[in-house]
Amino acid sequence: MTKFEYSPALESTSVVDIKPSYDLFINNEFVASKNGSKFQTINPATEQVLAEITAATAEDVDIAVKAARKAFKSWSKLAGSERAKYIYRIARIIQDRAREIAVLETLNNGKPIRESRDVDIPLVAAHFFHYAGWADKLQYAGVGPNPTPHGVVGQIIPWNFPMLMLAWKIAPALAAGNTVVLKPAETTSLTALLFAEICQQADLPAGVVNIVTGAGETGRSIVNHSDINKLAFTGSTEVGRYIAKAAAGTNKKLTLELGGKAANIVFDDAPLDQTIEGIVNGIFFNQGHVCCAGSRLLVQESIHDELMALLYQRLDLLRVGDPLDKNTDVGAINSASQLAKIHELAASGDAQGAHRWSASCQLPTNGFWFPPTVFTNVSQSHRIAQEEIFGPVLSVLTFRTPDEAIAKANNTPYGLSAGIWSEKGSRILQVAAELKAGVVWANTFNKFDPTSPFGGYKESGYGREGGRQGLEAYLAASTDE
Ligand code: NAI
Ligand code: MG
Repeated sequence: MTKFEYSPALESTSVVDIKPSYDLFINNEFVASKNGSKFQTINPATEQVLAEITAATAEDVDIAVKAARKAFKSWSKLAGSERAKYIYRIARIIQDRAREIAVLETLNNGKPIRESRDVDIPLVAAHFFHYAGWADKLQYAGVGPNPTPHGVVGQIIPWNFPMLMLAWKIAPALAAGNTVVLKPAETTSLTALLFAEICQQADLPAGVVNIVTGAGETGRSIVNHSDINKLAFTGSTEVGRYIAKAAAGTNKKLTLELGGKAANIVFDDAPLDQTIEGIVNGIFFNQGHVCCAGSRLLVQESIHDELMALLYQRLDLLRVGDPLDKNTDVGAINSASQLAKIHELAASGDAQGAHRWSASCQLPTNGFWFPPTVFTNVSQSHRIAQEEIFGPVLSVLTFRTPDEAIAKANNTPYGLSAGIWSEKGSRILQVAAELKAGVVWANTFNKFDPTSPFGGYKESGYGREGGRQGLEAYLAASTDE
């Protein structure tokens, strides 16, 4: 197949205005930390420093929680229809400033502009619109006729979908009448700080949203703050466990969205061309930094060779490189430490006897990169079949019967998502019902919608985000009925 040479089509960065240094956002103002230090945030595609960010201390977190507590009194009393006006306003500003947010996201995260522009940021706006619509209909959320918000919510989010995870957390929390202290991930704080400006622009009452930046230590200060009523976390299973332990025995409500090791199951009657696109989207979208990525391909043995030949051909056409180029399919790995993790797990695949294939692409010299990679000869006990790699690496296993596919699909500590490819509707329904996965896609993959609940089984966490179910997590049944 010919690989067409395209001229570079770079998205302009002139729409973004990155400040040299950022303070914390508390009470609708940017305020300096009491005694926190600053750290640099970089562009992972070039390793160039973009700005300095504040590492918030426990004292800063306490100030933010106090601001949120004070704001909760009036925000929770506001009519739902009035809260909705603010949330709709935020949604519209996000649409207005979509290009700016997308470029900033790509600069700080490394994801292709095509994805931040066409997937992440439109979904961010859609989430705010969706939950704005719920704000005056909370009696239908499923928690009784007169539900009440929990109070001050501490939210900790990861770096793979920085702005989208912010939306998943903040939109339902505000609609339900809670106030928020949110910490973005340390490598990708810039869009959250831009969101802080959007809160100012929307005239959101002071203290309803507070953004504290920093790494794990700042996260711990949120988790352990005694005046927080609910915690919501998305990230690693390791930190999820820590948070579950810290919250145990307190009155804090908790939702956790952790990792996954999704099976993407291809039956012998699957439409192959469509399936190839689905496999690519399943594991190479966002460099595979996706908790619900289709990282384990389960192929029916009879079509294995034909499918793999098509897949290798397709992967050789992926454009890996400058995330700001509109032709780029696969961007930069978000950090040096994530790249090291991917290398380590891929090396374990080699050592345990799997066969590695990598796309023949030229990687840029600066920045963090990993070529689209496929492992065949993978057995279920291999680390690359069990552990989340969180990178552009696909592990391929085979099966003969639907029962074998189901057994293998369910054989991980996780249970977040799965995919099924088949022309046969009855088979799809039967297999889907047996999969221990929160989301099952059929003849598609990585499709998201704000009306659809998302979340996992087992070590993938608990609670749901999105839709009515996502709202439930931010509401309690009223006690005075
Ligand atoms: P992480 O879980 O350490 O980071 C996620 C967030 O938690 C960040 O905001 C971080 O600052 C914060 N955090 C870290 N330690 C904390 C603590 N003790 N208390 C409170 N907050 C804390 O994830 P990391 O180290 O960035 O990635 C490691 C692996 O986790 C990845 O390779 C991937 O497998 C998985 N992961 C899964 C995600 C998902 O969407 N489910 C997202 C990010 C990572
Ligand atoms: Mg970590």
